[in-house]
Amino acid sequence: MDAAGLPRNDAMRKFNFPPDRDIAEDLAQSFGYTGDLVDIYTSTKGTLIHKWHHYLPLYDRYFGPWRGKPVRFLEIGVSRGGSLSMWRRWFGPEAVIFGIDINPRCRVHDGIDGQVRIGSQDDPKFLKRVVEEMGGVDIVLDDGSHQMAHVRASLEVLFPQLTVGGVYMIEDLHTAYMSGFGGGLESPDNFFRLLNRLIDDMHRWYHPQPMLNSNLGRWMTGFHVHDSIVVIDKAPVLRPTTSKVGP
Ligand SMILES: C[S@@+](CC[C@H](N)C(=O)[O-])C[C@H]1O[C@@H](n2cnc3c(N)ncnc32)[C@H](O)[C@@H]1O
Repeated sequence: MDAAGLPRNDAMRKFNFPPDRDIAEDLAQSFGYTGDLVDIYTSTKGTLIHKWHHYLPLYDRYFGPWRGKPVRFLEIGVSRGGSLSMWRRWFGPEAVIFGIDINPRCRVHDGIDGQVRIGSQDDPKFLKRVVEEMGGVDIVLDDGSHQMAHVRASLEVLFPQLTVGGVYMIEDLHTAYMSGFGGGLESPDNFFRLLNRLIDDMHRWYHPQPMLNSNLGRWMTGFHVHDSIVVIDKAPVLRPTTSKVGP
């Protein structure tokens, strides 16, 4: 798998942006996006970052309100440290940035743009230890193994730890349609099947099905689904009320 969550040698190469074309121009023309992340992404030197172009405006939309603040940001998947460097430049010096990775070689990135801890994203004890060390977590970005079981395991542990008002983003979810990642269009393990159940939980008032996961469901108030990206809002779920006004 490469750094954008793509199997290395398959037909998905068709998505590669032609190297002779201008990335900033594409972001401006295709998405109307000209934010600072464009400059930060395109001026990256000495390390690899591999991103789908449509992710940049989404990062800005969901993470933008935390820029310049002491946000506690956790990225699952460090790889060559490129994205940690991008996040440091974008969030600013006050941000508490942590990255976790299963690969011990990622330790070389520790203490440069953020703290790096080695362990697996499906290890609850490890995840809780990292969040404790961070003093809490406001944003989680899951760019780790993209294995369906791992994505789910991290969500189950980290979402309850997330600050109320925080953001949980999972990227590269095209992998949900790939058997190599434990997914598949019809697979019951496809992350979007789980998401469907979590959306049902949010609508628990309106159907008889028992909640799949009340630990998650009591805090999930919004789901934003984009191509390969899911963002979940955390706030207390309140029983909905209606009223009538006027004559
Ligand atoms: C797509 S790369 C991360 C890229 C990085 N976020 C960037 O944009 O530069 C995925 C990373 O997840 C790591 N990984 C794989 N399985 C993992 C697991 N179970 N727990 C934590 N990290 C894992 C891999 O070692 C790899 O470095």
